[in-house]
This record gives sequence, C-alpha cells and structure tokens, in this order.
Amino acid sequence: MHAMTEQFMHNAFAGESMAHMRYMVYAEAAEKEGFKNVARLFRAVAFAEEIHATGHMRRAPNKLGAVAAEAPFGVGKTADNLANAVAGETYEIEEMYPVFMETAKFQGEKLALTSFDWAYKAEVVHQKMYIEAKGLVDKGKDWRDAKVHICSTCGWTVEGDAPDVCPVCGAKKAGFRQF
Ligand SMILES: [Fe+2]
Ligand SMILES: [Fe+2]
Repeated sequence: MHAMTEQFMHNAFAGESMAHMRYMVYAEAAEKEGFKNVARLFRAVAFAEEIHATGHMRRAPNKLGAVAAEAPFGVGKTADNLANAVAGETYEIEEMYPVFMETAKFQGEKLALTSFDWAYKAEVVHQKMYIEAKGLVDKGKDWRDAKVHICSTCGWTVEGDAPDVCPVCGAKKAGFRQF
C-alpha cells in the first residue's frame, strides 16, 4: 500500500477507535441524565465506529505503524457531548474522509478506498441523527424510542427495521445488530 494511504488508514483507525470509546462514555452520561434513548443512540453509533476501526486495521498492511489522532477528551453534559459528537462527525464527512478517499483513489488503493467510503457513508447518517438528538436534548427531551440497526460488516446505520440487504456493502439482514 502506498505510504500516504497507509498512514491515513492508521489515522482513520485511531479516530474511529476514540470515537467508539467517547460514545460509550457519553452513553453512560446520557443514561444518568435520564436520556435513555440518547444513550441507546450513542451505543449504536459506537458499535458502527468499532466496525469502522476494526475494518481499517484489517484492510491496512499488517505491520507496525505510528498512529495519531487529535480528538476531544473528557465528558460533559449530554447536550455538550452531542455537540462534540456532531463536530466529530462533521469533520469526518467534510474534511477527513473526502481527503482520505481522494488520496486512495489517486494512489489506486481500492481496498482502502472501500474502507473509507463505507465509513464516510455511515458518518453522514450519524451526523444527522446527532444533530436531531441535540435539538431534542436542548429542549429537555429524549431522542425517539426508535430501533437503530447497524450493519456489522460496514457500519451502515439505519433507524427502524434493518433492510433485507445492506445498501452499502450488500450484507444480509441477519448481519445487522439491533440497538
Ligand atoms: Fe460516526
Ligand atoms: Fe453493510
């Protein structure tokens, strides 16, 4: 794999790994504040980020490399945690993944491109969901009592029932995890 794409795989692994852990901590905080459905949303999205992180690692060359990513640290009130989550998802869809995808395309790295593309598509959904949840929490309300399904192959995220076939990676319905 070309060095720059490979470095971006490492960066994406680091970013997704920390997003996973951040959302797990945020879920606990939301639970304590009585936002049960926001907590469930955080846990669902945390699972999607885990799928992205592990996928990036599996698809990158299996050797040691430096991993670094700057990310928000700490936990606040759920409204603030959601603001952080929106900012993180926005950075990924407006800056990080577009640049990573262009680089992978330019360098002819198809596997990396797929890995970045699968994550990018889910992050667009995450951003929308978090913006909506933030609007509700700002008014003192919880998120909807709606099911969330995550594709355990690519991290695709859907509110409501799982599709028969994942529109992003083609995995079957049984491969979705419900939250
Ligand atoms: Fe995300
Ligand atoms: Fe999928």
